[in-house]
Amino acid sequence: MSLRIIVILAVLTGVTGSPGVTIRPEAGPADVTAHPNSGAETLEDSEIYGQQDVPEEEKAEEDVMATGELNPSHYQAQRAAKVVQHYLNTHYGSPFRLFGLHKVNSGNAEDVADSGRKYQLDISVQEIISNTTVKCSAEVFFPSGDRQRSPEVRASCEDLLKANLTAQEEALFHKYNMNQSLLSAQNLPDSYGHIEPDNKPLWHLGIVASSSVMLNESTENTLYNMAQVANITQLATENEPLKFDCHVLLHEMVSQEIVHWKLLFTWSPPEGVRVLQMEPLPH
Ligand SMILES: *[C@@H]1O[C@H](CO)[C@@H](O)[C@H](O)[C@H]1NC(C)=O
Ligand SMILES: *[C@@H]1O[C@H](CO)[C@@H](O)[C@H](O)[C@H]1NC(C)=O
Ligand SMILES: *[C@@H]1O[C@H](CO)[C@@H](O)[C@H](O)[C@H]1NC(C)=O
Ligand SMILES: *[C@@H]1O[C@H](CO)[C@@H](O)[C@H](O)[C@H]1NC(C)=O
Ligand SMILES: *[C@@H]1O[C@H](CO)[C@@H](O)[C@H](O)[C@H]1NC(C)=O
Repeated sequence: MSLRIIVILAVLTGVTGSPGVTIRPEAGPADVTAHPNSGAETLEDSEIYGQQDVPEEEKAEEDVMATGELNPSHYQAQRAAKVVQHYLNTHYGSPFRLFGLHKVNSGNAEDVADSGRKYQLDISVQEIISNTTVKCSAEVFFPSGDRQRSPEVRASCEDLLKANLTAQEEALFHKYNMNQSLLSAQNLPDSYGHIEPDNKPLWHLGIVASSSVMLNESTENTLYNMAQVANITQLATENEPLKFDCHVLLHEMVSQEIVHWKLLFTWSPPEGVRVLQMEPLPH
């Protein structure tokens, strides 16, 4: 019997709203029949990811990819739509702007002759910090082949960047840049789901940087969510942009695995978050 990592979600132990997870080795694949999406809410700061439950009724062996019009609440449409969330955060995320998938309105999948599969989606996306919802139409292409390649995403959203965040971003940048000591923080959020208000921008930066990894690693058979910034450290820099080293925990909901990544990224208001290095860590 192989050792599997089982995530015991806090909700099962009655700690509502806590992102705390206990990871214990457990024998036997029989234990991994858990609802592939159970506890989506608990692993995440509900303020940040106030997303809906994905009603994934299907078991792994039923993961047969359909073509044509999709059931919007079906795992297939939901997984492809999640990739759009990671794409939007990667390209437009900021310490003051984070996107979450709100709802899939409709979806369609088609095989593209020998090269992969393409999804056409109409979705609603929530900008979590301002609590506004926008509609997007998106195309997600998952290339096929032996070598895993990242999905290609195109999205067009109405009023995506309505709020002008320049002043807030400049103020935060100035605050971080002027401080005598380099910033660092651990366990965002902690096992009680708590994040100090001063650390929230660092958590948000960690989410945006992690979105690049989640976008890059996604396939038709994955559903990635942010679990935790285990630690984040500001590195000394001469000028703009600021540079951060961080260790993040991502939750892959289909396999129920927590995966660890080490990221090096930069941030400045005009350039946004740019991931320079991403490295999966054994754990
Ligand atoms: C977000 O907005 C919706 C309606 O637009 C409202 O029902 C909900 O309570 C709001 N959530 C928060 C956290 O303010
Ligand atoms: C994205 O993932 C591919 C494999 O899917 C990998 O080869 C590539 O290096 C990754 N990109 C970055 C920036 O790490
Ligand atoms: C956003 O606000 C800044 C000042 O805070 C201003 O200089 C800039 O022109 C504004 N940008 C847009 C697109 O309105
Ligand atoms: C600035 O540095 C001090 C220590 O020198 C630290 O206590 C404080 O939290 C830092 N401020 C910010 C905004 O990070
Ligand atoms: C960051 O967190 C990871 C996972 O908890 C840990 O293994 C690593 O030692 C930490 N690094 C630092 C610099 O604290």
